[in-house]
Amino acid sequence: MSLKANEKNSIESGTFSLTDVVSIADISRKEIEIVLNKAKNLEEMDKKEKSKILENRVVASLFFEPSTRTRLSFETAIQNLGGRVIGFADPGVSSFKKGETLSDTIKMIERYADIIVMRHFIEGAARRAAEISQVPIINGGDGANQHPTQTLLDLYTIKKEFGKIDGITIGLLGDLKYGRTVHSLAYALAKFNDAKIYCISPEQLKMPKEIIEDIKGKVKVIETDDLNKVLPELDVLYATRIQKERFADEKDYNKVKNAFILDAGILKKTKKQFRIMHPLPRVNEIKTELDLTPAALYFEQAANGVPVREALLAMLLGKKKVI
Ligand code: CP
Repeated sequence: MSLKANEKNSIESGTFSLTDVVSIADISRKEIEIVLNKAKNLEEMDKKEKSKILENRVVASLFFEPSTRTRLSFETAIQNLGGRVIGFADPGVSSFKKGETLSDTIKMIERYADIIVMRHFIEGAARRAAEISQVPIINGGDGANQHPTQTLLDLYTIKKEFGKIDGITIGLLGDLKYGRTVHSLAYALAKFNDAKIYCISPEQLKMPKEIIEDIKGKVKVIETDDLNKVLPELDVLYATRIQKERFADEKDYNKVKNAFILDAGILKKTKKQFRIMHPLPRVNEIKTELDLTPAALYFEQAANGVPVREALLAMLLGKKKVI
């Protein structure tokens, strides 16, 4: 990852002013770059030195929805930084099961922990938690709304691979209606120069109109259902899972579940440096035959979650809020 000297100086002297990470829309381009730069520094830092950053600190990890990568990469990051983790991976073992409100849960956990990482099935739950909590809240995904830490690791991955984010042409593919990762990523790309976004989906799963409205003056956005037509132009194809759990009627899911299945054949039509990203988990949308090709970036992308989440924890540590 290379940065121009003046850009590097400005980022190094910059500060991360946020006390919570709730939505990518709240984070400026400069702050995004500060996080990415910090993540790079942490990747290169001596392990022993790194393990002092969260010494004697407790991070609560509250997952009201299933997760593999977000929860475990946060927990790895906390351990790498020398912190301790409390929390749950299943709300069924918490007092949520007995009817405790989110508000009461947060008011308790802030007394046990220095930072709270939370995934919740309700859109806006992270914002609500941040309004209540005296300790920083990091949104690990709220319903179909936002997944800002995923976006930061996606941007880190793009920058590592291409040396820049400006000018990138990216296809967002699949479930653009319910996929929170593509909502956050679209907002983030709109903060960079000359990015071009193809929103590729079936009619039923198009990117929400309000997101298109919000970003279209800042970034070139083209909606299509024809992947083959746009493939040769793409630097990155960001595939997503059709979010079965968010459909009210399974019949509607069945109509679109096989809308796009990527196989090695697509590589005949792509640029040399073309890469496939995916927030994972995948179901059937990327055939495993692609996994060992140079285009497959998705496992490396998931691994980048650790330094990026380390950076966020380190930067939010000690932030005080006036509620
Ligand atoms: N990308 C992502 O959020 O994965 P998990 O649902 O496994 O956390």
